[in-house]
Amino acid sequence: MNTSKPATHAAAVPEFAPSLPGPADPGVLPDIDAMERLVNELFSALPGGSPSSLGGVRGISGSGLQAGSGLPSTLAPAVVPSLSVPSSVRGDPHRAAADILAAASAMPDESTLRALLAGISHGVPISLASAQSAPAQAGSAASPLNAPALDVPAALVSEAELSRGSALPGATDPFQLDALSAMPGISQFGVPASRAGAGSPLTAPAIDRPDALPGSTYYFVDAARAPLRGTPAVPGSADGAAGFGPAVPPLDVLAIRRDFPILQERVNGRPLIWFDNAATTQKPRAVIDRLTYFYEHENSNIHRAAHELAARATDAYEGAREKVRGFLNAASANEVIFVRGTTEGINLVAQSWGRANIVEGDEIVVSHLEHHANIVPWQQLCGEKGARLRVAPVDECGQILLDEYGKLLGPKTRLVAFTQVSNALGTVTPARQMVAMAHAAGAKVLVDGAQSVSHMPVNVQDLDSDWFVFSGHKLFAPTGIGVVHGKEALLNATPPWQGGGNMIRDVTFEHTEYHPAPTRFEAGTGNIADAVGLGAAIDYVSSIGIARIAEYEHYLLRYATDLITQVPGLRLIGTAADKASVLSFVLEGFEAEEVGKALNQEGIAVRAGHHCAQPILRRFGLEATVRASLAFYNTCAEVDALIAALRRMRHARRVVVP
Ligand code: ALA
Repeated sequence: MNTSKPATHAAAVPEFAPSLPGPADPGVLPDIDAMERLVNELFSALPGGSPSSLGGVRGISGSGLQAGSGLPSTLAPAVVPSLSVPSSVRGDPHRAAADILAAASAMPDESTLRALLAGISHGVPISLASAQSAPAQAGSAASPLNAPALDVPAALVSEAELSRGSALPGATDPFQLDALSAMPGISQFGVPASRAGAGSPLTAPAIDRPDALPGSTYYFVDAARAPLRGTPAVPGSADGAAGFGPAVPPLDVLAIRRDFPILQERVNGRPLIWFDNAATTQKPRAVIDRLTYFYEHENSNIHRAAHELAARATDAYEGAREKVRGFLNAASANEVIFVRGTTEGINLVAQSWGRANIVEGDEIVVSHLEHHANIVPWQQLCGEKGARLRVAPVDECGQILLDEYGKLLGPKTRLVAFTQVSNALGTVTPARQMVAMAHAAGAKVLVDGAQSVSHMPVNVQDLDSDWFVFSGHKLFAPTGIGVVHGKEALLNATPPWQGGGNMIRDVTFEHTEYHPAPTRFEAGTGNIADAVGLGAAIDYVSSIGIARIAEYEHYLLRYATDLITQVPGLRLIGTAADKASVLSFVLEGFEAEEVGKALNQEGIAVRAGHHCAQPILRRFGLEATVRASLAFYNTCAEVDALIAALRRMRHARRVVVP
């Protein structure tokens, strides 16, 4: 993410404007009239509703949005007496349009719509997903005044803020151009919906491929067909991640959320807000179902029997390997080794290639950003071999100082190991450039992709890494499965790591002949089912499109960064120009753990601590931070809830300890 604000918004706004419906030009920022039309469109598409019977919705920017008398009978004016659009929504027309359009795509039922409208009447950004997750209760759902029970933001925003009509202090200026120009990644968010079901007048047709769109009735569907203009590069794409074309269809986040059953969970009486995605991601129904299917229909050991289930399990497992190959654009499935996760993958390389190739006096270069998993195995290897571990420093923003890195590279450098995305700060490193520099010095390179694969396209051939490692559980797949990608010739020239069954061609008491990669490195019975689950996760992510995910997350991170940096006493740790989905911070007057626990009370899951990356936190004089890490199923409303909770904490502490 480019976090530096443009000096002036004048040029940036039109260039990156979303294609929300504008009067003449889909690239023009949505205006009040456009918003009005959106709301009318929503109402008119409801059973029994029509634009004329509604009599229009007026006054969105003035005294409050007034629903006309023609509301569907199930939504009588008495139920929705006055709809005042929250200032936080007014402050972000993309967001407002996204919420409304997404609502339209989701075919809300009556109780859902009541919740949605009730949230609006409370000046609270209510998400349709949370509205849907809250079943209507007799005697309560009938009144919008009961809405605060339905969504976290309502509960988090203080009375004072509500009475000021400002849910979020950072978003009080309607259509603030600074905020808009600072969101270059936004496009047609909320436009329905590749994943929406069919059969409803409110349900958009599938738009996985823009050119596959059937004719549509609704202009917001048409908007989805318009090519994006000025679509920014995916974070990291400039340095080697595969880029994407100029037209990236938007995400329907609310539809996506319905794919993740756990997102309907409640924690401490509140809807779960999962902001601990850097630790692990949640699993879509497709992955859960694939595991069930495997155990119900395919379960067997692989490669070893003539029976039907062995064939099914082997096909499923090797099919998953091929999916990983495609996902990474590896040259061959033989380059894909299944391991437990990133940590095991790095240890595999350290203990196989490293033990065979590192000798006394050699140097291994890591960066200051590394996770302990990309430090300790090399430290152990250096200790064992008499080699030296060297560290590439970072600047105050948390980006690697390339000049300093370059100075470390020389004839003694045998290996460079670094992360593509920092788990603690979110920094996207210039990976391609760093790989090229290491290769120029004659070193091999391992890239830790644990935090990158879920956020950006990865192309290992373009990156030219010798090894690329990642964990399935950070890619919406099960825990206990991960991948080492290695160049095939290199893998076959490397002695095996562990010995046992599956990895051998022939065994006598005198001698063992090994298989080539990948089975050479897969001794014993592997995690077959979860490898298959990883394949399903890759299918799921690919069906959405990693480029679309990157673009949405870029927007969301920008949105969150703009707001969180306005929380008094909050210090953001990690402000590199290129970042992915991590907000690491400390809050004055609070221990990180205290913040984590308080947020948990609100149903918000963040990680608080050193994030298994003590050296980089100490670089910033800290032992711990609070880390909110985002994924593509997170929403602006969830970000708002986090910000509101932090503000309330800070406010409460100021009162207690002046
Ligand atoms: N590496 C994981 C994290 O950053 C566990 O939280």
